[in-house]
Amino acid sequence: MTRHHASAALVGAVLAATPALANDEFFPTFGNTGYDVQSYDIALDVDPAKNTIAGVATLTVVAERQLGVFTLDLAGLTVSSVKVDGVAAKFSRDADKLKVASPFPVRKGNTARVEVRYGGTPTPIQDPTAPGDPDYVLGWMHYKSAPYALSEPVGASTFYPANDEPTDRAAFRFRITVDEPFTAVANGDLVDVIDRGARRTFVWSMPQPMTTWLATVHVNKFKLSTAMAGRRPVRVYATAATKPADVKGYLKAAAMITWLEPLVGPYPYASYGSVTVDDPALYYALETQAMSTFPTGAADESIVVHELAHQWFGDSVSVQEWRDLWLAEGFATYIETLWPNRNDPAAFDAAMAGLYDYAKQKALGPAVVDGPEEIFSNRTYVRGGLTLYALRQKVGDKVFFQILKSWASWFRGQAVDTQDFIDTAVLVSGDQSVRPLLDAWLYQKPLPDFPAAASGAA
Ligand code: ARG
Ligand code: ZN
Repeated sequence: MTRHHASAALVGAVLAATPALANDEFFPTFGNTGYDVQSYDIALDVDPAKNTIAGVATLTVVAERQLGVFTLDLAGLTVSSVKVDGVAAKFSRDADKLKVASPFPVRKGNTARVEVRYGGTPTPIQDPTAPGDPDYVLGWMHYKSAPYALSEPVGASTFYPANDEPTDRAAFRFRITVDEPFTAVANGDLVDVIDRGARRTFVWSMPQPMTTWLATVHVNKFKLSTAMAGRRPVRVYATAATKPADVKGYLKAAAMITWLEPLVGPYPYASYGSVTVDDPALYYALETQAMSTFPTGAADESIVVHELAHQWFGDSVSVQEWRDLWLAEGFATYIETLWPNRNDPAAFDAAMAGLYDYAKQKALGPAVVDGPEEIFSNRTYVRGGLTLYALRQKVGDKVFFQILKSWASWFRGQAVDTQDFIDTAVLVSGDQSVRPLLDAWLYQKPLPDFPAAASGAA
């Protein structure tokens, strides 16, 4: 497979589906080769008190070579059967891989349906960005009869068989069956609730391509509140312990969408939502696609607007490689800093100067990082955010937001890399000197000078 590299000349014409590129350099044991998943249909019967699941996952895959034996990521759990296009397949387990021997060869370019029946009690996996620290785990977690799943950068394999690498994006459907009065929340929109007497199946649909790490499932006794962002619903699924003031805080995403759309282009999904988690062990919010996840009390505007910004930058346009996570976190940091200062340019500049002082004091290295332990560092967040500020100071506000709009629209639904962004910035600005500027901020160790506005740039 060729790596997708949009040249500046082609950048407007890259809307064709990109192939799965396989293993990330930072997390090489995750991800599989030979196929590209088009869709996941994940039916899970969940017992929230016992924390057990019984699942049927149906993956529609396109073969990228002739498929005989292939693997999927699946950690723990017990597999009872695998079928390829309805025919029973032999399978085995090897570490966190499920190995499948297709009963017939699937020819390159052909589509196959892979059905996996599995179940048990999911076990979270060690967070590879904090190796050796048992407090940092990922995947399916559980707190007081309330399971929830968060998998950045990996962990999907704790609750469904996946091609758990960032370039293989797919549509998702979740069918989560729970006892009354529990409710289930997942990405996208609730398209059906099937009544089964004492049980109910909640069907959630995410038709736009999504990375495996953004897939989320929550079971709790949620209370729903709704606001509108134009014609788009903004929903908040709050646990009983969520304070009403916090629910209001999450609903502010509606006003934030209305503010952001003219700046960066249309919100990429049919609706937006937020779901809350009571588990005190959860220490971060996550931009789970079209349904962000927030730990108790994390309803500050800065966090709410940060996760919302990721829907454009991080989710709809996602990273091909984890070293480039500034393409998500740098953008979210920039927008998070802009929101409270949106009507006061001088205050925004001052806030950015504050970030710059921090970067200087900590001698933050370049925004593109060198190893898995650095992906959530302030190189990614702060130097990443300052990179965008340096770009805006160079090209001015108008061209800067044209760049962001083009980026979000040209690469909508795709995995991208830093080079794609540099090409886009040069192409839209028509200014070749943007290239060395971005190179210095993104790849070179010395912190460039604080970016003053270029004369003439408004
Ligand atoms: N992407 C999240 C945010 O900035 C942070 C996640 C940090 N930690 C983790 N293990 N994923 O909104
Ligand atoms: Zn973030």
